[in-house]
Amino acid sequence: MHSYTLIAPAKINLHLEILGDRPDGYHELVMILQSIDLVDKIELRPNGTEQIRLHCNNPQVPLDASNLAYRAVEVMRGEFPKIAANYGGVDIFIDKKIPVAAGLAGGSTNGAAVLVGINLMWELGLTVPELQTLGAKLGSDVPFCISGGTAIATGRGEQLDPIVDLDNLWVVLAKYRSLSISTAWAYKTYKQKFGSSYISDSEGVKSRTAQVHSGSLVSAIAHKDGASIGKLLYNDLEKVVLPAFPQVAQLREAFQEVGCLGTMMSGSGPTVFALCESSDRAEIVRVKVRETIPDPDLEFWVAQLSSAGIEVTSFSK
Ligand code: C5P
Repeated sequence: MHSYTLIAPAKINLHLEILGDRPDGYHELVMILQSIDLVDKIELRPNGTEQIRLHCNNPQVPLDASNLAYRAVEVMRGEFPKIAANYGGVDIFIDKKIPVAAGLAGGSTNGAAVLVGINLMWELGLTVPELQTLGAKLGSDVPFCISGGTAIATGRGEQLDPIVDLDNLWVVLAKYRSLSISTAWAYKTYKQKFGSSYISDSEGVKSRTAQVHSGSLVSAIAHKDGASIGKLLYNDLEKVVLPAFPQVAQLREAFQEVGCLGTMMSGSGPTVFALCESSDRAEIVRVKVRETIPDPDLEFWVAQLSSAGIEVTSFSK
C-alpha cells in the first residue's frame, strides 16, 4: 500500500455576500473564492492498525475527531465500509503553514486533501465531482478546496461555478496570532443583527431581496483587472467582526492607508488581506503596515493567487 503526500492550499474570499438564513440553519451565500499559494503539506501513511492517528507541527490543531482531516477518513469509512476494512488505519501528518481559525479554510483544505488522498490509497476511482459531494458533508468550503482556482460559490458555499483563473496578483495577509474567530459565531451574530431585514419567499426560505453585488467583480476578474478587483472586494461578515474586534478594524485601515489595490477581511476573519499587483509591491505593503502596527502578535504572509486545488506531490511504497 502506498503513502501519499499532498499540497493543500488556503483560500481567500474576494466576495462574501449573505442573501439570507436557511431552514437548515446555514446561510444562503454568494461568494467568489480564490486559492492562494500559502499551503499545508499532508502526508497519509497506512499504519497497519484500525486507528486514525493525527500528527501536526502546530499545537493549536486538534488531533481528534473535531479535526476535518480525521472526519474525512470517517466519511470515507462510512461510504465504503468493506473497502475501508481491507485497508485499516492511517497516520495523517499535517505540516501546518496556514493559520488556524483564520478565515482561510485551513481546516477545510486539510479535510479536502485527506478525501483526495484516501481516494487514491484505497483505489476508489472517485471523480472530482463525487469527491466534492462527499466534501460537502464535511464543511461548506471543502468542495471548493478540492478543485481550487477562482470560483463563484452559492448555496451554503458548496455549489461551484469555476471562472477564469487569477494568477497575476499577490496578497499580503495579516493576522493577530492570539486572535481566532469562530465561523459559527460570526454567522450567528450576523443573523441576530440583520435578521429582521430578511423576507420569506413562497417556499418559506428567508432571504434578503437579492442585492447580488458580485456581477461587476466577475467581469473585472474576467479581464484580470487588478485595480477594479481591488475596489470591488466585499464581505458582509465585516459588519459584525470589525465592530467586535477593533484590532481587525485597525488592521484593515492600516492596509487601506498604504496604497494597495484593495483590502478586505477573509471569510469570518480575523485575517485581513491586501491585494497587490506584484510580489515587490506586496513586500512594500507588508513592511509599511508592520511599521504602522509594530505589535509582535501580528503575523504576516505574502502569497500569490493560484489556480491550484489539492495536488498530489509524491507517493511511495
Ligand atoms: O460548513 P462549515 O462547518 O464550515 O460552517 C461552519 C459554521 O458556519 C456553520 O456551523 C454555520 O454556523 C456557519 N455557516 C453558515 N452558513 C454557511 C456556511 C457556514 O451559517 N453558508
